[in-house]
Formats: sequence, structure tokens, C-alpha cells
Amino acid sequence: MASEKTSCGSIRNELLELFRTALTVSFPSVSAEPVVAACNNAKNGDYQCNNAMALFGKLKGTPSAPKAPRDVATAIVGALPANGLIAETSLAGPGFINIRLSRDSLSTRLSEMLVKGLASWAPTGYIGKKVVIDFSSPNVAKEMHVGHLRSTIIGDTLCRIFEYCGADVLRLNHVGDWGTQFGMLIEHMADARRLRVAAGGEDKDMDEDVADLQELYRAAKKRFDEEEEFKTRAREAVTRLQSGDPESLASWQRICAASRREFEAIYSRLGVTLQERGESFYNPMLKDVVEELKAAGVATIDNGAACVFVEGQSVPLIVQKSDGGFGYASTDMAAIKHRLNEEKADWIIYVTDVGQSQHFELVFAAAKKAGWLVDGSGPKVSHVGFGLVLGEDGKRFRTRSGDLVRLVELLDEAKSRCAATIRERRAEAGEEVNEAEVEDAACAMGYGAVKYADLKNHRTTNYKFSFDEMLNLKGNTAVYLLYAHARIAGIVRKADKDVYALAADTPISLDHPKHLYPSPSLFWPSHATVTATYFSPRLQELELALHLCKLPEALEDAIEELAPNRRVDVAFRNLVPTGFTLNALDLPLRATHYRSIKLRVTDYLYDLSEKFNSFYVDCKVLGSEQEASRLLLCEATAVVMRKCFELLGIRPLYRI
Ligand code: ARG
Repeated sequence: MASEKTSCGSIRNELLELFRTALTVSFPSVSAEPVVAACNNAKNGDYQCNNAMALFGKLKGTPSAPKAPRDVATAIVGALPANGLIAETSLAGPGFINIRLSRDSLSTRLSEMLVKGLASWAPTGYIGKKVVIDFSSPNVAKEMHVGHLRSTIIGDTLCRIFEYCGADVLRLNHVGDWGTQFGMLIEHMADARRLRVAAGGEDKDMDEDVADLQELYRAAKKRFDEEEEFKTRAREAVTRLQSGDPESLASWQRICAASRREFEAIYSRLGVTLQERGESFYNPMLKDVVEELKAAGVATIDNGAACVFVEGQSVPLIVQKSDGGFGYASTDMAAIKHRLNEEKADWIIYVTDVGQSQHFELVFAAAKKAGWLVDGSGPKVSHVGFGLVLGEDGKRFRTRSGDLVRLVELLDEAKSRCAATIRERRAEAGEEVNEAEVEDAACAMGYGAVKYADLKNHRTTNYKFSFDEMLNLKGNTAVYLLYAHARIAGIVRKADKDVYALAADTPISLDHPKHLYPSPSLFWPSHATVTATYFSPRLQELELALHLCKLPEALEDAIEELAPNRRVDVAFRNLVPTGFTLNALDLPLRATHYRSIKLRVTDYLYDLSEKFNSFYVDCKVLGSEQEASRLLLCEATAVVMRKCFELLGIRPLYRI
């Protein structure tokens, strides 16, 4: 997907293009990718370009070599094309180019967004790209555990981000619906049926046989492990099922249907849609795929099994077991081929726990060995791994009785706790309680809180599942953010103006000077807000506007890192040109001040609500002289917050 680097939509991309031109004009003899990042410290500027130092290194020894990196920076600035985006540039340190944006360009960007809608801000590098996302993927008849919940939440958010970017997203549920475990399940069901017939009951499988799938699995597994005779029958049942015996297939389907109902109960609560394409779908392709790998010499026989050996990996990928059977890896080879050839995927993304990283590395390497994938060109494949969910005791998340937590119960608890809080707050405020409304708000809040608590963590780290933390009214939680949004929506409602008509003819002013002694925030300010309000040299309206305009960047970064939640210090890494150390460049330690931070969608959203708070403390909205312009800033904030909620799969609330 070569086009992703050239996507436009964000300010950063516009700056990149301007600096790309400036670099070619000022130093045509060397090729350099522009490096532009947001400034971490508002004192320095809004953005910075960090190319000068590396370029200086490259030019050393050439006839026209500049004397110092600062000269390189001066030349780059001098070659910037005329534009309406940059108001001013300044040099700092050994050759950083600090950029101050024009206020007009920010205010125009916001007005346009309000008039045309947020679609105009979507990153454009993925339009029409086919992105296959394999996520959730629970196993039939086994419990859908918190790991699958993480896969569902992270996968759904990635889908939503790609969908917003105009990609053609295929949401695949690679359900574990095939394999040897079905032999024991079918046989155990057959025994239940025999008992029923003996007692004068019906001679067919019944839904009651699969009413408690976890119990069915537990009982069948126990017998499989303990009874030799049952084990033999179970194995025979697998063979019958695989050879297409109608009765075995019917039992298998009944089990799958029961499982599907359980999964659906979770998906509908979470508002997640998925296309089921389980392992069984690839079953008819396995033989041919493995034959192809063997014939091409990609798979070789080792101890009777067909294995793909991959450089740098201690274990091979076993595509056919020594008894001739196919397994998880065989299916993934067939699936990747199908997704590349039939689905014509540009990017295939797998979302599972990090425990499966090696499996996917092997699958990707085997697909490359087979020539289905080529490094550096054509379709991409990625494994998005995530860490464990831990209980408050820091151990694997389980119920008090030691069982795995049932997801439906977990979601129900989040919801009922929210309902209680909402009722309490309504009672405190002396407001009437409408039960249907409370129920609706509690769903949005409870499920939203579970999702947000998951997404705000770095995906590869383990995190503790804590209702108390995720349902906290203060701090970085969905509950806090939903309240913040409802309040902003309330301000706009109270003004009782047609904001969209206003947006068409009222310029958004960003000139309000800094107020030195803020009144306490009405929005439960965090320590960070107060500090920012006292010490930020930026104007609150401007600060808010700039952050709003950074939404496209937050999304580009989320995609680049394939995580809705990752912070990376890329700009800092880029500061140090290859072959140089910090000392060789004589960078003062202060250079760390220039670190630029990538955004997470969740962090972006939280920072937005903090920036709004600072603005609201400082800038009177209703009844002020600047009411119209400030209302537009309120509405723009609400619109952008809603987009973030939507991308995170959280339903916004307009009043709580
Ligand atoms: N069913 C698997 C599990 O529960 C996840 C499947 C992931 N997708 C894949 N194509 N292997 O661990």
C-alpha cells in the first residue's frame, strides 16, 4: 500500500508536502524524506521540521557543503513555497525549524469542517483499499473469554478507523468451528440421546443437549480423558464428520448454532458486526494448499509431518500432522491464500493475544516462502497482538470461584452499576427518573466504559480489570468523557441558535488573550488542566482549535501503529541522523524538549476534553460578546468528540 505516506487530510501532511518541495529546491543533489512533527512544547511552536541535522551530515564533504546545520535549516526555510498555512518560522538549537501556524488557516479549517462535515477530515490514503480484519474469533463450545473480548474491542475499533478512512473493510470472524474436539462433543450428545430414547424420549438431537455448551464441553472432555472406549468412539466420530456424514454434520451444526447465539448476545450488546467465516470454511481447501506447499518444496517432511522451516525461527510451521491430519496452521495457510487471491486484500490484519505472535510470524514467513506475499511490495499482513486482562489481584482475570469470567455477566454488571450512579445523581439533582432513559444511558456508559478501559491501555501490556476505576466519574474514563460531552451539548442547546447557519457566516476567532487567574474549572479539572491553565503560553481558543485540527493525525498515527492507543517517539528518533550520536551532533540535553509525541485516539479524546475545560474556564461562552464564535468552538468540540466515540465504538450521550 504505497499511497499511505502521501495521504493528505492532516496539517502534518500539508506541512510535509511544503517541506518536501523546500528540500528538493534547496538541496536538489540529495534526496531526503521530510520529517515534520507536532511540537511538544507550545513555547517553541506548533510544529517543527527536523531535517536540517541529518541533511547536514549527508552534505558533509560535498563541494557545496554548508558550514553548520543551522545554515541548512535557513536554506530550507528560504525555499518554502508560498502558502497560507505557516504564519512564521524560527530556528532553534542546532537547526530545528519551529513552525507557527496561521490562526486564519485553523479557523477556516474548523468552519469548513462544521459546514461540510467530518468526512472531509478523513485521512485519504486508504480509500478503496481492501482491508481484511480477522478479529474476535472465539471457539465454538468453548467459553468466549476476556481475551476474545479484547480482540473484539480492538478489532472493531481498527475496522471503524479504516471504514472512516474509506477503506473497504471485511470484518472476519475466524471462529474455531472445526477440529477434533467436535468428535467428543458429537459422541457425548449421541449418548445423551440414547439415554433419552431408553427413557422413552425422542430419538433426535434436541436444543436442550446444547443449552449449556460449556458444560457439554467440560463433560465430554472429562470422558475423553478418562474413558478409553469413549475416546475411540470420539475419534471415529471425527472421521465421520470429516467425511461428510449427514447425521454428524447435523449435530455439528446444532452445536455451532448454539454457540453463535451466545456470541451474538455479546456482539449485539457491544454493537459489533462481524461476518462469520470459521475454520470449517477453509476445510475443503486444506488438501490442495498443503499439496501445493509440498510440491513447491516450501513444506518438507520431518518426522512424518509436513513442515515449513523458516529462517530465524526455532520451530517449524506444521501444515500437516504425521497422521495426515490438518490443524490450526493448515487452516491459516489456506485462509491467507484465500484472502489474498479471492478477497484481493491489500492488507490482512489479525487481532489475537500476543501468545500467538510466533504462530503468525511463521504463517507470514511461510506465505512469503510460497511466493504469495512479497516483502516490501504488494499486500501487507500484520499481527496485532494484545496482552492479558488481569483481575484486581494481578492474576489472570477469573471469578471468585476460579472460573473464567462470563462476558455477558461482566457487561451486565458494568451496565447495572452505571444505572445506579445515574439514578443517584438524578435523585440528588431532584430530577425525575425515566427508567427507559436510564437503561439506555446505562448501556452506553457501561459498555463504553469497558471498551474505553481496554483501548486506553497500550495494547501489548497486561491491564487490570477494575469496575471502580473504569466507572470513575473523574479521570481518563469513558464515563467522565460522556459527561463532558453531554455538558458541551447542553451549552449549545442552551444557546438555542442554529450553529450550522452560524458556521457558514461567522468566522471563528482564536484571539482571546491568556487569562492569568482562572476560576476553578466547572469540569472537575485534573491537576494537568490547572497547570496548563496557569502556565500554558498559548491562548485557550487557539490551543483548543489546534488540538481539534489534529484529529486526522491521531488517526493516521493509530493506523501506522496499528493500535488505537500507541504513543511513539518517532520524531525524536528521527532527530538523530543515522551514523550520528547525540554527542557527535552536540545536541544539548535540552533536546528532549523537542520530543514529539504521537497521539492515541483515546489520549487524543481525553486531551480534547481537558483543552475544552481550560478554554471554558477562561472564555465565557453564553452571553459573551464572542458568543457566536465560541459556540462554534463548542460545537466543533462536540462533533469531534462524537467522532472519537464512534471510532471507539462508544455511543455518545447528549444529556445524562
Ligand atoms: N480461535 C482462535 C483463538 O481463540 C483465534 C483465531 C485467530 N485467527 C486466526 N486466523 N488464527 O485463539
